[in-house]
Amino acid sequence: MSPFLLGPLVVGLISSVLALVISITDRIVNDYGEVNIDINGGKKILTVKGGSPLLGTLAFQNIFVPSACGGRGSCGACKVRVLSDVGPHLPTELPYLNSEEVARNVRLSCQIKVKKNIAIELPEALFNVRKFKTTVEQIRNLTYDIKEVYLRLSDEAIAAGGISFTPGQYAQLVVPPYGDVKESVQRAYSMSSTPQDREHIELLIRLVPGGIATTWVHQYLKEGDPVEVVGPFGEFFVRDTDATMIFVAGGSGMAPFKSILNHMAQTGQWTNREIWYFFGARSRRDMFYLDEMADLERRFPNFHFVPALSEPKPEDAWTGPVGLITAVLDSYFKEKIGKDKPMEGYLCGSPGMIDACVKVMTANGISQDKIYYDKFA
Ligand SMILES: Cc1cc2nc3c(=O)[nH]c(=O)nc-3n(C[C@H](O)[C@H](O)[C@H](O)COP(=O)(O)OP(=O)(O)OC[C@H]3O[C@@H](n4cnc5c(N)ncnc54)[C@H](O)[C@@H]3O)c2cc1C
Ligand code: FES
Repeated sequence: MSPFLLGPLVVGLISSVLALVISITDRIVNDYGEVNIDINGGKKILTVKGGSPLLGTLAFQNIFVPSACGGRGSCGACKVRVLSDVGPHLPTELPYLNSEEVARNVRLSCQIKVKKNIAIELPEALFNVRKFKTTVEQIRNLTYDIKEVYLRLSDEAIAAGGISFTPGQYAQLVVPPYGDVKESVQRAYSMSSTPQDREHIELLIRLVPGGIATTWVHQYLKEGDPVEVVGPFGEFFVRDTDATMIFVAGGSGMAPFKSILNHMAQTGQWTNREIWYFFGARSRRDMFYLDEMADLERRFPNFHFVPALSEPKPEDAWTGPVGLITAVLDSYFKEKIGKDKPMEGYLCGSPGMIDACVKVMTANGISQDKIYYDKFA
């Protein structure tokens, strides 16, 4: 073997052996015994075995903090405020925390270990988060790269009341190891089903080329397969006001709006509010649910669906608005949307689309604090 390759190989081998020795020594020598986790000033006190990361320790006690990377310190979703001393912030945490969070001792719960009694603060909504066993009831192609995945909860979960969530919230799909992927990962997907159906969870999943979860869903997952889902999570839901709602989505960003609109149709909630829904796609082959949205428009005169294509093909015979969704949005603000009521913005999709639409919304009179979004990043 070339000496150029041998050097890095030996260094790598020594590092792996050292890491293994440190981890084994930590387990044998550092027996932390039982420790207490005090949550929200004594609201819950858990007695747990010390020595493991806070994220996994809480999950073992059925308290699920959001995690999109499965605890590898690469998503920044697992933030928890720690009120007791667990040592200084680690370099792995700092890229995900702003200065205010650092000052308040917000931590990445996957990066800190529970070694002694610890006090933390958690949003109480997390106490309702559960891990659900489900079976794939149906998978349907909505476009060439978006699948509608319909999951049925296990009989035990249904007997225990099923899933309860607010339309707009998301769940985390647990992806098991498959092919060359050796570790389980979790990814966030907005629920497109409604809370009225407590027995099912529906997700709309767009294939990201090379992506771990979406490749699994698109190329491996079959009807009848078992799937685990953790949820509900998130702050993306309709605010309880009379304001005109401006929805904007692209691709699988349709998911939370499908849930919100079908919830509206099933319950009559929000039907007195003006709703404008702008859905952007490149060409006709990226469009879906046009009939469902047209049906909702017929039933609810206050609901206006505006699908727009940025690059329609001649064969699309498209007669709707043409242009980037930002331009279409801007023109509707200027020409069609009444300014007599306050407005709220709701956006879901790629970070680029969201940032561009936020600019258009603020330029047209919606203040930043009335714009809500989930960035699918
Ligand atoms: C709140 C929220 C809600 C969401 N809701 C939805 C939804 O309803 N529907 C939906 O489709 N998505 C949704 N997402 C996005 C979703 O969570 C995932 O991020 C997305 O599906 C990609 O996951 P993945 O595992 O397939 O890709 P990942 O494996 O995470 O890869 C992401 C990117 O990295 C690249 N990559 C992967 N491996 C490598 C490598 N070895 N080297 C270099 N590059 C690499 C991929 O090509 C891709 O560009 C949501 C996200 C959030 C935060
Ligand atoms: S779980 Fe992803 S950073 Fe902690």
